[in-house]
Formats: sequence, C-alpha cells, structure tokens
Amino acid sequence: HFGRPRRGSPGHPVQATPSGRMDPFEDTLRRLREAFNSGHTRPAEFRAAQLQGLGRFLQENKQLLRDVLAQDLHKPAFEADISELILCQNEVDYALKNLQAWMKDEPRSTNLVSPLDSVFIRKEPFGLVFIIAPWNYPLNLTLVPLVGALAAGNCVVLKPSEISQGTEKVLAEVLPQYLDQSCFAVVLGGPQETGQLLEHELDYIFFTGSPRVGKIVMTAATKHLTPVTLELGGKNPCYVDDNCDPQTVANRVAWFRYFNTGQTCVAPDYVLCSPEMQERLLPALQSTITRFYGDDPQSSPNLGRIINQKQFQRLRTLLGCGRVAIGGQSNESDRYIAPTVLVDVQETEPVMQEEIFGPILPIVNVQSVDEAIEFINRREKPLDLYAFSNSSQVVNQMLKRTSSGSFGGNEGFTYISLPSVPFGGVGHSGMGRYHGKFTFDTFSHHRTCLLAPSGLEKLKEIRYPPYTDWNQQLLRWGMGSQSCSLL
Ligand SMILES: *[C@@H]1O[C@H](CO)[C@@H](O)[C@H](O)[C@H]1NC(C)=O
Ligand SMILES: *[C@@H]1O[C@H](CO)[C@@H](O)[C@H](O)[C@H]1NC(C)=O
Ligand SMILES: *[C@@H]1O[C@H](CO)[C@@H](O)[C@H](O)[C@H]1NC(C)=O
Repeated sequence: HFGRPRRGSPGHPVQATPSGRMDPFEDTLRRLREAFNSGHTRPAEFRAAQLQGLGRFLQENKQLLRDVLAQDLHKPAFEADISELILCQNEVDYALKNLQAWMKDEPRSTNLVSPLDSVFIRKEPFGLVFIIAPWNYPLNLTLVPLVGALAAGNCVVLKPSEISQGTEKVLAEVLPQYLDQSCFAVVLGGPQETGQLLEHELDYIFFTGSPRVGKIVMTAATKHLTPVTLELGGKNPCYVDDNCDPQTVANRVAWFRYFNTGQTCVAPDYVLCSPEMQERLLPALQSTITRFYGDDPQSSPNLGRIINQKQFQRLRTLLGCGRVAIGGQSNESDRYIAPTVLVDVQETEPVMQEEIFGPILPIVNVQSVDEAIEFINRREKPLDLYAFSNSSQVVNQMLKRTSSGSFGGNEGFTYISLPSVPFGGVGHSGMGRYHGKFTFDTFSHHRTCLLAPSGLEKLKEIRYPPYTDWNQQLLRWGMGSQSCSLL
C-alpha cells in the first residue's frame, strides 16, 4: 500500500540518509523542474526530437523488446507486435504528423460588441508529469501515455511496473539513451517508492491499474491538488443474444478473452446469455479453443503465461467457482492456466466479484435482454461492454440503457487501435481519456486567452459606473444577446 513509506526499513539503504530525510527522488525531481522552468521542452522542434527518439528506440530494439515481453508474459510475437510494438510506433508517427496542428492556438469567436478583442485557446504543458504503468501491456500502457506527455511539452517521470521485470529493465536502461535526460527520468520500485514519489508536488499524474490502487493514487494527489487521469479496470459484461450464430460469437469472444492470456483490462470478463444459448455456445467455444491452441494449449506457441505466482494462485482459486465446462487445467511451475469456461456460476462467487484478468470465462444465465441490462446496471460501470446480436435493435437497446467506458457491438476491443476515438473509463472504471490527440489534450492545460487592444478606452467606458439609464439598457441588451464581453 503506498502513500505510507516505511521509513528506515532494512533492505532499502537508498532511503536512509544521515539527515534523516529519506528521499531518493528529490534530486531527480528538482532537475526536471529546473529543465521545465527553463522553457527547454516547449519548442515544437524539441518535442519532435523526443518523439523521433522514442520511434528510434522502438525500431532499433524491436527484437530485444519482443524477447523481454516473451520473458515477462510469454507473449506470442504476433500479440507483442500488434498490441505493443506496432501500436506504440503508430502513436509516435501520428503525433509527429499532427504535432504542429495540435500545438496551434485555437481561435474562438468574439462578438459584435468587442470585435477587436482576440480570443483563443492555448495548449500549454502542465510541467512535471508522473506516469505510473502496469505490467500487462508493459510497453503499450507505458509508452502511449508518454507519447502525449512529450508531445505536449512536459517533463516526464516514468515508472514502469516492477512486476514485468524484463521490460522494466529495458525501459530503465535503454530508453533514456534516446531521450533528453534533463527532461525525462525513469524511476524504479514498487508501491513504497511510488508512494514516496507521490508525496512530492507534481503537475499531473497518469495512472493505469486497479480501482483499489487508483483510490490510493487519487488520495495522494489531493495533497497538492494534482490533476489525475485514472485508467482502471472492471468486469466487462458480454451479452450474447439468442439469435446469434454460436460459432461466430465463440470465435470473437474467445480471441478477445484469451488474448494476452486474459490479462487485458478491456477483455470480455463474463458472458450473459440464456441457458439455451449457453448449450449452443459451449461446443462452439470448445471447437474454437482447440482450433486456436490445439489439444494441449500448454504446448501452444499462441498462448502466453500468467505474469507471476501471486496472480497464478489467485486465478487458480477462481477455477473453483461454478463448474468447469472447458479447460480448468493449471501448472504451477509453468504458471500455465488453460483457456477455461465456467458455467453454473453464482453472482456471489469470487469469480463474479473481482476482475478476472486471466484466461477464464464464466457464463451467467439471464432469461432476457431486460434481465441482462438489469444485471449490468446494478454493478459498477465497466470499462467496456459488449453486445452480440443479429438484431441491431437489441444492440442499440444495450447501448442506450447502460453505461461503460466504451462499447462494442458484435466485436471486441478493436477500437483501441484507432487514434480517432478516446479510450477511458467512467465511474468505477476510471476518469480521463487518451489515445491520439486525446493524449496530447490530456497532458495540456487548455488556457483561455483574451487579448484586448491596449487603447480604445472609449469603447470600454460604457460598462463603468455611474450606471445611467442609457448604458444600463445597452448592457442588458448586450447580455441578452450574449454579448457579455461588453463587461
Ligand atoms: C494496449 O493495452 C490495452 C490494455 O488494456 C489492451 O487492451 C490493448 O489491446 C492494447 N492495444 C492494442 C492495440 O491491442
Ligand atoms: C447473424 O446471422 C448470420 C446468418 O445466420 C450469421 O452468418 C452471422 O454469423 C450472425 N452474426 C452473429 C453475430 O451471430
Ligand atoms: C508442468 O509443466 C512443466 C513444464 O512444461 C512440466 O515439466 C511438468 O511436468 C508439468 N507438471 C505437471 C504436474 O504436469
């Protein structure tokens, strides 16, 4: 639990200084603050150079990155490429292409009463931003926010997850060589170090992780009133209508559920369908799983592993909920969990209480779309919601009567690779949004500016007391016709 550094704990000699001040971050943060205040990061050329550096890091270390992703998560190379490497490269290229346009002041209209004022929105960097990343997509969820933070002209402290150790090491040792180190730092450590860093005054905090830790981060942020983006998770429902073709649904749901071994915050977490649909869906899911991963998924090159023992043990406990219909095998020394489907699951069981974050798909029976909507709406708002139906009416009903960070009709989370739409939660699944220009906007303060002519005082005089009948009338008319800038 961070926010409460254990002072002087043995095994952390870096924290114990003779003065009793235990702060390994002070120097780094002061250095970055000074660099920001010097204006160094503001010019477009500087920002572009950082983005180009990031692009070179991805290009020149492609194989190394694939290797560490395989080491951390046994990520199949194809999954590493599409959900981590190519994705990050695309974000870099997109930001480089649009940087000038994003940075431009946005002129806004004035009105008839003050035609000579100039009004615009300027995008200015916040200053020192802190990005806290998770382990499940250790590049994607670290570098995609970084692209926007650098493009917006900030200094950045990046904390990769200590749990995805291989990737953490590359991000700490190799990435800084490609960026200006006076404006960028990678910090290492776990909850304790993060808590310690959060004691400092930062200008923006971008956190991806669980709602539980999200609350700790937000609490820490109140100390300095630091704005936060929280990219959290949740249990994403997946409704399957009776009129669906079971094989089509099985293919789509299984791919998105078992991708990255289920360790995906936007994965369909559980299926809601009628008992009849369940009977048709099970053989279809079995056939999909065999086609994807063979008769022995443990030996399949297309399936990753659980990140560590702690997560493995948690998931193995969940296998005891309901009844195993497909899969259910596990192997501790290999941190392997078979692609699994559970049925006869009760809403009160652990597998329906926590975000699963593993290759386990429970099916919960509902009798109708109304019952499914009622089920979804009595729980926290999810990050994502999926509805499969051959009737667009049913899909639209789901969309209209529920709320979630994003929504997929007859499809999984493919929208995530589109820079044209924002990604982010609502309610318990988080706050704030990013991807493409939305990341740039997240890391920029939108400053409203009005520049009036320095002269022409005669024109402005009408607003001052004494309020005569004549100027009061004129002012009221001005406000009534939304010409408020008369004031
Ligand atoms: C990036 O990471 C998120 C983490 O939840 C994942 O859902 C997504 O699939 C990844 N991006 C792409 C394009 O796959
Ligand atoms: C909708 O029905 C058509 C025709 O039966 C079928 O080919 C298609 O896969 C179905 N779509 C879904 C999502 O079930
Ligand atoms: C677990 O997996 C390892 C590595 O594949 C294998 O050597 C071992 O025999 C398996 N253990 C069991 C109990 O199946």
